[in-house]
Amino acid sequence: MPQSTVDTAPTHKIRVWDLPLRIFHWALAVAVAGAVACAEIPGIPVEWHARFGYAVLALLIFRLAWGLVGGHWARFARLRPTPARLRAYFKGEGSPEDQVGHSPLGALATIALLTILALQVGSGLLADDEIAFVGPLNHLVSSAVGEAATEWHKELGKLLVFALVALHVAAVVYYLRVRKQNLLGPMVHGDKVLAHPARASRDDGILRLWGLVLAVLAAGAVGWLVLQGG
Ligand code: HEM
Ligand code: HEM
Repeated sequence: MPQSTVDTAPTHKIRVWDLPLRIFHWALAVAVAGAVACAEIPGIPVEWHARFGYAVLALLIFRLAWGLVGGHWARFARLRPTPARLRAYFKGEGSPEDQVGHSPLGALATIALLTILALQVGSGLLADDEIAFVGPLNHLVSSAVGEAATEWHKELGKLLVFALVALHVAAVVYYLRVRKQNLLGPMVHGDKVLAHPARASRDDGILRLWGLVLAVLAAGAVGWLVLQGG
């Protein structure tokens, strides 16, 4: 009698994104959306826009620290979008590691998003809209630099934030629909199911507590910085 064939390919459930990284991501999405909504919807006082912007700054400071001490796949050492790795990835010849954390393309997108958000927050801190709001660090620079920062913030910086976020969300949908790769699930529950074994990110109580301490320190640093504006 013929044996029924069962697909016994082994699978490995790996914790890729630790809880602090996941909370960082969704808090960042909310803070950026809040900042944009408050800037674009008429009638909302600019202070609300700035508060969401300060939250983005605290999150970026947290991410900087987390890139050094966070879970394995959240570390900057794992974000290596070198031309050789990108070429191999596009030719479908990437390493198994590309499937675990950010792919080389995902790493490039991560660096681009974090950089453009840092520039947007930085230019906001230096901005002076000459109507209702002066950024807390505006007094440290000449009026020419303040004007250039304000122009960047309201023109090119704004467009780059919109374009990169739109591209980012479109890429997640493309991977899901076309490449049948669900990147969204792991950013919610933390795990990927892989065909090969891989190192897991640490995500225990101590690491999570460490994340909380760093988040509080980042928020404190931003509070101190805002007070510098008087
Ligand atoms: C990632 C965070 C941020 C994003 C995405 C963002 C985005 C924007 C956008 C879309 C505008 C409207 C530009 C226009 O259409 O005229 C704007 C205006 C402005 N932003 Fe931000 N911003 C951020 C952070 C900040 C921060 C931290 C500050 C200052 C503390 C700030 C200060 C301002 C000021 C002063 C304006 C001009 C408001 C006005 O015209 O009255 N922004 N920002
Ligand atoms: C303003 C909105 C958003 C911003 C600023 C943003 C920013 C980011 C950043 C910086 C990362 C890299 C995470 C890291 O630090 O390692 C990331 C990853 C990711 N984001 Fe977003 N995000 C936004 C909205 C969204 C939305 C709406 C979705 C869902 C459709 C999403 C899905 C993802 C996924 C799945 C990843 C992991 C990508 C990978 O596996 O390489 N993001 N996002």
